[in-house]
Amino acid sequence: MKLGIIGDIHGAWDSHDTRFFNTAGYDGLLLTGDLPRFVGALPVARQLAELTPPAYMIPGNHDATGLVQLYAEMSGHTRLTRLTALGMPERVAHLAETLGPITLGGYSLHALGDNLGLVMARPHAMGGDKLYFADYLRRVYGVTDLASSRDRLCRLIDAAPRDLIVLAHNGPAGLGAAPNAPFGCDFDPKRGDFGDPDLAEALTYARETGRRVLGTVAGHMHHRSKDGRHWRRTYHRDTHDTLHINAARVPRIEAEGSRRHHVVLDLDQGEARAQTRWVDAAGAVVSAEDWR
Ligand SMILES: [Fe+2]
Ligand SMILES: [Fe+2]
Repeated sequence: MKLGIIGDIHGAWDSHDTRFFNTAGYDGLLLTGDLPRFVGALPVARQLAELTPPAYMIPGNHDATGLVQLYAEMSGHTRLTRLTALGMPERVAHLAETLGPITLGGYSLHALGDNLGLVMARPHAMGGDKLYFADYLRRVYGVTDLASSRDRLCRLIDAAPRDLIVLAHNGPAGLGAAPNAPFGCDFDPKRGDFGDPDLAEALTYARETGRRVLGTVAGHMHHRSKDGRHWRRTYHRDTHDTLHINAARVPRIEAEGSRRHHVVLDLDQGEARAQTRWVDAAGAVVSAEDWR
């Protein structure tokens, strides 16, 4: 099975991308979310709705949220956080509708193949050890803190087949604390490992209950650090042989449209291999780098 992975889009999408993914022959597409440059996911969502392969998207912190809401979440302004969360369930539903055939998931389990499950993790994750968008998560999912988020993920794993892929907006904790680690904090290096602890604990649970987590696919922590000095590592294979991928190359379109980024995830008999691939506007491969 070959999956095409599309990292944080942040406005970098056009009809060439749609045509490419509709003809590239992937068995499925995984999207890590963050559609708009800052806010307003619907224009990109309308274009993505034209995709024809089975596609799954986890919403990011920029999807179905607003600028004031992001400010409130990041600054910890409780009243403003509550106020700006009020319309979020409706905004998420509108985004899901606009995405047409694409499955907008979150705390959900899907079948990728006969014996391969796709767990979609906490939606709108924003990194670190804080539960962002807590008001929305409580009202819609009954999740009140990181422990109940972990428990919610574990119940999905209970229902999952042996082999699993996880799609998250931000990846799991435990993959390193340096600014160039897949989910290390670059904008404030003192904060170290900025991966999601609830997801990391759910992965441990998955292994303890006999699952093979072939890979995790996420984004959010963009490849280039805020100060422009570091390039983040895209891949990390852990001691359990799980391949972790951070696909958030932002901007994903470079050189006036002549280079477009995605990742190919190849799953063969329980083994995950990946390749970073750049294609031009006509869909021809301009560079491809295997990672193993
Ligand atoms: Fe992003
Ligand atoms: Fe993000």
